[in-house]
Amino acid sequence: MTEPDGTILDGTILVTGARGNIGSRLTAHLARTGHRVRATARDTAGLDVPSGVETAALDLTDADPAVLKGVRTAFLYPTFGDITGFLTAATEAEVEHVVLLSSPAAYDPVEHAGPIGAAHQAIEAAVRDSGLGHTVLYPSWLATNPDRDWAEQIRAGRVAIAHPEWRINPIHLDDIAEVAADLLVREQFRGCSLILTGPESLSQREVIAQIADALGKPIEVEELTHEQALAARPAWFPEAMFASLLEVAANLGERPATVNNNVERVTGHPARSFAEWLRDNEPGI
Ligand SMILES: NC(=O)c1ccc[n+]([C@@H]2O[C@H](COP(=O)([O-])OP(=O)(O)OC[C@H]3O[C@@H](n4cnc5c(N)ncnc54)[C@H](OP(=O)(O)O)[C@@H]3O)[C@@H](O)[C@H]2O)c1
Repeated sequence: MTEPDGTILDGTILVTGARGNIGSRLTAHLARTGHRVRATARDTAGLDVPSGVETAALDLTDADPAVLKGVRTAFLYPTFGDITGFLTAATEAEVEHVVLLSSPAAYDPVEHAGPIGAAHQAIEAAVRDSGLGHTVLYPSWLATNPDRDWAEQIRAGRVAIAHPEWRINPIHLDDIAEVAADLLVREQFRGCSLILTGPESLSQREVIAQIADALGKPIEVEELTHEQALAARPAWFPEAMFASLLEVAANLGERPATVNNNVERVTGHPARSFAEWLRDNEPGI
């Protein structure tokens, strides 16, 4: 059944990576708004979901078609590896629409030729070639990045980075989740490539200053050269990917980061600011 505003009321919504930063928020939002959700992870042990949400194991590169039973729409993470088996099963199960998370790396003039761009282009191509109806999301710099990249340094009160004046655009993860949810339950904007940004262009230095304010403690910024930053690369970050991000920062320099109002056009409310993110999330804590 479809409501006059396009909201679909029947059918199950499949969420991959329901433990992920975006997937968990998407699952919570869909459950809160009364939708039937099948939340998946490669290993469901300890997967914490809101009451009423079904769980199932799903590795996109090795999918059991049974996970798609009754599924009307699906949210996909851009995983590495071959997901054509999953996409074929989704086509056979008559999945109506897929929302694929991608990254600006897929089209950025520097990153698109690097490993992050290639990985995202590959999964976009697989989804496109499957013939499934789909929408691709390109969120800007995730507000979770400081925690991912600088948590230890934030605790220590000194963040050492290259290109501190590089301007980025932090996006609140609830905004990405809400846009994804909208596309999964309503028919508007389907088929688009949606570049999603937060509301303001901030330098890395300004982002760190906002974190310091929110935590109520000083955080010094130490500027590294390109070579020093490469040498200080976190062990978990593959070298080629890290180098590619540094190249982007060097290329863009101090130019303003793109700001658009696509979050508002889809959800009806303005994108949340990084300051708002910091009210509910404390990087490094
Ligand atoms: N960092 C940025 O600024 C930025 C900007 C734009 C786009 N992005 C995109 O956003 C992603 C990060 O989003 P996030 O923070 O929400 O990610 P996250 O918290 O790291 O979660 C990633 C999820 O992917 C799932 N996953 C990985 N491989 C899988 C597979 N083979 N089959 C099924 N699920 C699989 C994981 O599920 P399990 O529980 O099974 O492990 C996990 O829940 C990046 O990888 C990038 O593609 C990032």
